Amino acid sequence: MTWLRRGSSEPLWKEEFPVRTADERYVTRRQLTKFLVLTSLGMFVGNIWILIRSIFYKAPIYGHQPVAQLGEIPVGGVKLFSYPSKDDHCILIRTAEDEYVGYSQKCTHLSCAVYYSQAENRLECPCHKGFFSIKDGAVLQGPPSRPLPRIVLEARGEQLVAIEVKG
Ligand code: FES
Repeated sequence: MTWLRRGSSEPLWKEEFPVRTADERYVTRRQLTKFLVLTSLGMFVGNIWILIRSIFYKAPIYGHQPVAQLGEIPVGGVKLFSYPSKDDHCILIRTAEDEYVGYSQKCTHLSCAVYYSQAENRLECPCHKGFFSIKDGAVLQGPPSRPLPRIVLEARGEQLVAIEVKG
């Protein structure tokens, strides 16, 4: 049953709440202020969280790990190893008689394993044809936006030791 005022075709409730349907999509000043205050509060709390994390952030401490014997692989040869944990797969390449480079094998685009192309002298990702420089791991081509993390190597006696991950 709808209550109508005498002589009116409009229901009584419409007279008491005179907001038209077309006007309902407009945001009131109070709603906008509430939205802005809550959004600002959320951003403030987020920034405080980032600040606290950066204050208490500790750079990872890498262990020293032998990865190969000097001369173990031929010039242009490759050896796979894991560093710093057994789940972090890396690739060691002997680029010259006494020159070795090591990189994370995980492509910086979508984590496919990169491999060394001796013919092109670069690291290649087969998934989306991302190519990386053998000199510094920089992106040469393809969708990756960041260079490959480099494994810092040190010769100790007859051993090649991984000491740090850069990038
Ligand atoms: S995962 Fe390597 S290029 Fe996409």
